[in-house]
Amino acid sequence: MRVGFIGDIVGRPGRKMVRRFVPEIRESEGLDFVIANYENASHGFGLTAKNAQELFGAGIDTMTGGNHTWDKKEILGLLESLPLLRPANYPEGVPGRGVALYEVCGEPVAVVNIMGHFAMPMVENPFITANRIVETLQAQGVRTVLVDMHAEATSEKRALLMMLKESVSAIMGTHTHVGTDDLVIESGCAYVSDVGLTGCRDNVIGMDAKVPIERFLTGLPGRFEVPDKCKGVLQMVVMEFDSGRAVDAYKIRAYSEGEIETVLRARVEE
Ligand code: FE2
Repeated sequence: MRVGFIGDIVGRPGRKMVRRFVPEIRESEGLDFVIANYENASHGFGLTAKNAQELFGAGIDTMTGGNHTWDKKEILGLLESLPLLRPANYPEGVPGRGVALYEVCGEPVAVVNIMGHFAMPMVENPFITANRIVETLQAQGVRTVLVDMHAEATSEKRALLMMLKESVSAIMGTHTHVGTDDLVIESGCAYVSDVGLTGCRDNVIGMDAKVPIERFLTGLPGRFEVPDKCKGVLQMVVMEFDSGRAVDAYKIRAYSEGEIETVLRARVEE
């Protein structure tokens, strides 16, 4: 089973990169299932119904969220009607779900969305929640478990890997928008601290650089804007699984100039 994981899609430039490259990459990489993070997809904040349809129409099968899940009010209905997740460790009673089961290549595949603790909204303990979910999935006999760990701190992401590497198939980091080079397969679990954004690669975390520079110079608040024009990038981790264990993982980048390259291959650690 071959799965593609795209990190945070940021605004129109990100969606444009998805529309342009995902159908082609799905074909060339022989992908059976594609996951992406939607939380910044609509002008950098949340997800609209129109943009959800646009992304699913481009060949994404399911999407995960994060702290920005709630930025567009219409998400409440979409969480009910579309294959969209929000972090599982929001308290009980919060709309949506953080775990979903899909059938891929005739096998059950679980997608799990967890949010970290550091510099994030006050939610339930991500590690206790993750353990509880994994126990339930194991009891159900689900072998392929793919986790989006949406967190600021790389230490939390690595700790989740060390805690769950024997029992989940992949842990892909999102939220920082900056891709890291620590892609690895540990005990059959594919891991990277952050996949990195899909959107503008020449500004600041996909947002127009003017606002963050002004904020850092003055300490005054400013509203982030997604640039109209920029150099785009799509970043995806491609993973291959056999009986729920990762056997290969590599990262590809596509650029708005048209080039697609493999930039990292996971070392397989016992
Ligand atoms: Fe986030």
